[in-house]
Order: sequence, then C-alpha cells, then structure tokens
Amino acid sequence: MKILVTGGTGYIGSHTVVELQQNGYEVVIIDNLSNSYIEVVDNIEKITGIRPGFHKIDLTEKEKTSDFFRKNKDIAGVIHFAALKAVGESVEKPLEYYHNNISSLINLLQGMKENNINNIVFSSSCTVYGQPDELPVTEKAPIKKALSPYGNTKQISEQIIENTSSVSNIRGILLRYFNPIGAHKTAIIGELPIGVPNNLVPFITQTAIGIREQLGVFGDDYTTPDGTAIRDYIHVVDLAKAHVVAIDRMIKNKCKKKVEIFNLGTGDGFSVLEVIKSFEKVSGVKLNYRIVERRAGDIEKVWANTTFANEELGWKAEKNIDDMMLSAWNWENALKDKR
Ligand code: NAD
Ligand code: UFG
Repeated sequence: MKILVTGGTGYIGSHTVVELQQNGYEVVIIDNLSNSYIEVVDNIEKITGIRPGFHKIDLTEKEKTSDFFRKNKDIAGVIHFAALKAVGESVEKPLEYYHNNISSLINLLQGMKENNINNIVFSSSCTVYGQPDELPVTEKAPIKKALSPYGNTKQISEQIIENTSSVSNIRGILLRYFNPIGAHKTAIIGELPIGVPNNLVPFITQTAIGIREQLGVFGDDYTTPDGTAIRDYIHVVDLAKAHVVAIDRMIKNKCKKKVEIFNLGTGDGFSVLEVIKSFEKVSGVKLNYRIVERRAGDIEKVWANTTFANEELGWKAEKNIDDMMLSAWNWENALKDKR
C-alpha cells in the first residue's frame, strides 16, 4: 500500500514516514524543502532501512502536482503535512500563508479527485479552538475566530475538506494536534528550527546547550496554579503513530462519517515552569530563564479531552513529559555533534 506524505521531510512528517514504513506501508514524499532538508530522506533510511520515494514539488504548482498524481494513481491515501506554520510570520506575511497553505490543499484535492484517490488525513491544530470555554476541550467545542492568518488557514482548510467531501468520494480525517515536541529515540531525526525558535522546547534545549543566552518565560500572571501558561504537550512519535492508525482506519473502511475529527494530545496540561522543571530533571542542566512580558496572541491554557480519539481510534499517547524532554535533549546533543 502506497501512502503519499506531503511535507514528509519536515518535523512531524519525517517521524510519521518512519512509523508508516515500520508498519509495512510504502511511502512517497512530496516536499519543496522550504523548511526542511533533503538529508532527512537519508536519515529516515538510516532508521528503517527503507528509502522512501521523494519528489521535490511545490504543491502550489498545479501542473506539477497533477502530473505527479497522473503518474502515481496507485496511492491508497494521502497525509497532508505540507504547510507554513509560524504564527508570528503569518501575521507579517498573510498572503504568503494563504497562498501556500490554501493553494497547496486545493491542488492536492484536485489531483486526488481526478485520479480517484479518496483518503486524506489532514494536519490541523488546537489553535482552531482559541481559548476554549471549557477544559479539557472536546472536538465538539465551538471554533473560535482565528487569531492569526496561520490559524485561519487551518480553519479554512478544514472547511475545504468538509465541502469537497460532501460532493465527492473524498473522505477526510482531520487531526487537531496540541503541542508536538520531542524527537525520535535514535536522535537521527527531530525538529530543525531555522533561525531563532519560536516554540518553547527548542528554545529550552538551545539555551541549555549554549546557543541562546536565556529563555524568556512569557508571563507569570495567568490564572493558572504557578501563573505560567498551560499546554498539552505530546511526543511527536505518539503523534506519528496516530497517523498510521488514521490511515489504516480509512483504508479498512472503518470511518463512521465522511469527515472525522480527532484531538491528538495526552489529555494533561503542563505549565511553562513545569516543562522547565522536567527538562532540568532529565538533563541535569540548570536552565537560565527569567520571566518576561506575556507574548501577544498567546492563550492562557488549553489541554485536550482525548476520550474520542482513545476510544474510537484505539490510540493513546504513551510518553510522558520527562520522556519528551529527554528525547528533545538527546536530539539537541546529536545536532551539536553535527554542527
Ligand atoms: P515543518 O515545517 O517541519 O514541515 C512542513 C513541511 O512542509 C516542510 O518540510 C516544508 O518544506 C513543506 N512544505 C511547506 N509548504 C510546501 C509546499 N507548498 N509544497 C511542498 N512542501 C511544502 O512543520 P511540522 O511541525 O512538521 O508541521 C506539519 C504540519 O502540522 C503543518 O501543517 C503544521 O501546520 C501542522 N501543525 C504543527 C504543529 C507544531 O507545533 N509543529 C502544531 C499543530 C499543527
Ligand atoms: N513560551 C515561552 N517562551 C518561549 C516560547 C514559548 O514562555 O520562548 C511559552 C508560550 O508563551 C506558551 C508555551 O510556551 O505558553 C508554548 O509555546 P509554543 O510557542 O511552543 O506553542 P504554542 O502553544 O504557542 O503554539 C503551538 C504551535 C502553533 C499551533 C499551536 C496549537 O507553535 O503552530 O501550538 O497547535 F497553532
């Protein structure tokens, strides 16, 4: 069974390719390498012993995308990770974000429809919930007005898949990720932030290894037990495994609706200070940090109700916060050796 993974050399995509291969799927990747490196294909092969197919295609290019599908009609399902994902940058460059994320999805769905490829798993985000009224947040919670063009591309993309599925054979599984962190246990693949990281965990590991001087903790006056913001961090390999389950479910015709939606998190919330504490414990490194102003646009607290994913998919995140921080630290150390 051949699966197309768009964005397959990226952070979550590469971990998912490994899990797919280790579960017997043949994988072909499309990526334009705008936020990843071709060496990731070698690194995937180092882990699994199998080289995935790779096509350097920009999915915003309609002709090249259709041409790919014409030549690969035997694809059983598509996992669509390819997107631009920096929230702050999306505010500065809205047209780039709408163009990249929306045109890519449209071209992909058109290519799928024309070639009778009907299964798509889509990378969505808990950002669609904004600050939920009730916690933990379920899939039935209302979608809140997006706070950034990036968040809006996720909401619009979910709607595009819903609308397309209602008039075609396309079926979708929309996976709303909470905060993916960590790296593969081999430390051969992981997150490769370009420039100064926006996200908490790469900033922590880069500070601890000496690339950054100090971590700024964005605000300690939230209404949370220690005043810092709370998120539901999930190990990237647990997240990757959920994609294998989702693809299996589609291929085996187990979906109960044309479009299904699942939260992917652990169900536990951790504050920024708790994440730092876990990092210091597993690494033995004292982190240099200080409390700074809140970051504009940040929500206070969010964590997932994962009951639906656990019961319906038969999937559950297994790794705890210490496992996540240790794997992120091992990866940072492996990167140091390559620098
Ligand atoms: P990433 O940047 O590491 O991977 C995305 C990949 O897509 C990159 O390799 C990039 O080169 C490629 N790409 C981008 N635009 C493309 C295009 N037009 N054509 C072909 N390839 C293109 O990001 P990631 O963290 O692995 O995220 C994967 C998906 O998950 C994204 O859709 C992202 O929005 C979503 N997501 C990520 C997070 C997170 O915190 N990492 C949270 C929620 C949702
Ligand atoms: N934080 C700091 N200092 C930093 C970086 C982050 O204190 O230097 C804090 C943030 O304020 C937040 C928490 O750490 O409270 C997590 O921040 P991240 O930037 O790592 O993650 P976000 O929850 O802000 O956003 C992430 C992705 C988005 C996605 C969202 C929901 O970056 O793309 O999860 O899925 F939309």
